[in-house]
Amino acid sequence: MKLPNLEKAKIRNEKEVEYIDATIKKDVSLFRGKKYFLKTYGCQMNVHDSELIKNLLEGIGFLESDKMEGSDIVVLNTCAIRENAHDKVFGFLGRAKHEKSINPNLIICICGCMAQEPSVCEEILSCHKLPNLLMNKINKTDIEVESIEGNVVENLEYIRDSKISAWVNIMYGCDKFCTYCIVPYTRGKQRSRKSEKILEEVEKLKRENYKEITLLGQNVNAYGKDLEGELSFAELLEKVSDIGIERVRFVTSHPWDFTDELIDVIASKPNVMPYIHLPLQSGSSRILKLMGRRYTKEEYIKLYDKIKKKIPAASISTDIIVGFPGESEEDFRETLEVVDYCKYDSAFTFIFSPRVGTPAERLKDGTTLKEKEERLKRLNELVNKYSLLANQKYEGKIEDVLIIGPSEKGADLVCGYTETMKLVNVLGATSRVGEIVKVKITEAKSFSLNGEAIL
Ligand code: 5AD
Ligand code: SF4
Repeated sequence: MKLPNLEKAKIRNEKEVEYIDATIKKDVSLFRGKKYFLKTYGCQMNVHDSELIKNLLEGIGFLESDKMEGSDIVVLNTCAIRENAHDKVFGFLGRAKHEKSINPNLIICICGCMAQEPSVCEEILSCHKLPNLLMNKINKTDIEVESIEGNVVENLEYIRDSKISAWVNIMYGCDKFCTYCIVPYTRGKQRSRKSEKILEEVEKLKRENYKEITLLGQNVNAYGKDLEGELSFAELLEKVSDIGIERVRFVTSHPWDFTDELIDVIASKPNVMPYIHLPLQSGSSRILKLMGRRYTKEEYIKLYDKIKKKIPAASISTDIIVGFPGESEEDFRETLEVVDYCKYDSAFTFIFSPRVGTPAERLKDGTTLKEKEERLKRLNELVNKYSLLANQKYEGKIEDVLIIGPSEKGADLVCGYTETMKLVNVLGATSRVGEIVKVKITEAKSFSLNGEAIL
């Protein structure tokens, strides 16, 4: 049995990326009548990968079950980005272990980023020795780890969760190596899909009547840089936009590769949505340097200003890490200053979580967890204030909302998103799922809006 190797994953092998066609033989008689339970953790990439896993399993006869109990296979699509993601998966594995003690034939399959981490695999493997711990019924031969540095597989089929909104991978992996981040190791080197394949997929989605697509990559702005003669991300986005799907989105952007050309495409194409996720990570240039982010606070603000000037309607969200090793109170205050300046529509905030094998894991860290928690609290208060302010600007306005389905807030409500990615609970549109509806916004909350459909 071979474990994945983080050290090796660091070295980008020179081997050319192979572009191969999916060769998946479908035979539903193989596992007819068997059930699978799939649990997904983490980012949109994982959510989309799970749509692929569903297709693979259903292609060989499995049917999806919404509970682990009574299933024949449990698939955990895992995330490794922060320790709490690990904890959640291990918590869930505890339940799976219990289920296996009832049904010894149960197959437990762990895939995704955690399965690429050697320390995690060792932890899972060693568990079989401890009777009352995880997966004690499994012996070593039951566990296989496959770690592939990366080809690009084309013509994949998915069972998409939605008939309205679809994910489209445009690239895999990441070469940025931000010093805190595990992704370049677990997801491997950057591999762009060929643009003609992406465009083919988008055209198919258009024929299938999808209303929205989201182009996916860890760092979409670097699209094509690993392929000679390939389109830039701005050029790709323009071509995708011309296919004519009502709404085109993309995640995630790295400020480093965000070109003027890209801003112009977003500004000029009405179906490219004015919503940009632009991770800041820290407002201190000193910390940004330690993070390996390749921009300063000033450069980030300059980019922000440029985007806001050319796309005034743009809503901008961000990711921020507090408590990176060596972050002083002064560094943290600079982060608050940038938040005050950018007044983000929304922000995802995290406490730094050391990831095994990353450079930041080895940095000295004098800040206590208590201080970090306190910084996170102060940061959250500020970002929540700006989220509410941003939402309040919508009150009384009429917005185009793509209705995606029932709302959790009431049986007579549906929910959907504005062009700027604001979640709206809508009254009077229960029969209009899948349509873009004009909605008058009646009330703003911190994380959602309420509105009424205008007929
Ligand atoms: N600790 C805390 N947050 C992290 N992120 C990535 N790695 C870490 C880490 N080790 C955050 C970043 C990234 C988001 C997806 O997760 O803010 O943008
Ligand atoms: Fe991680 Fe994003 Fe940096 Fe890539 S660009 S290393 S995915 S934080």
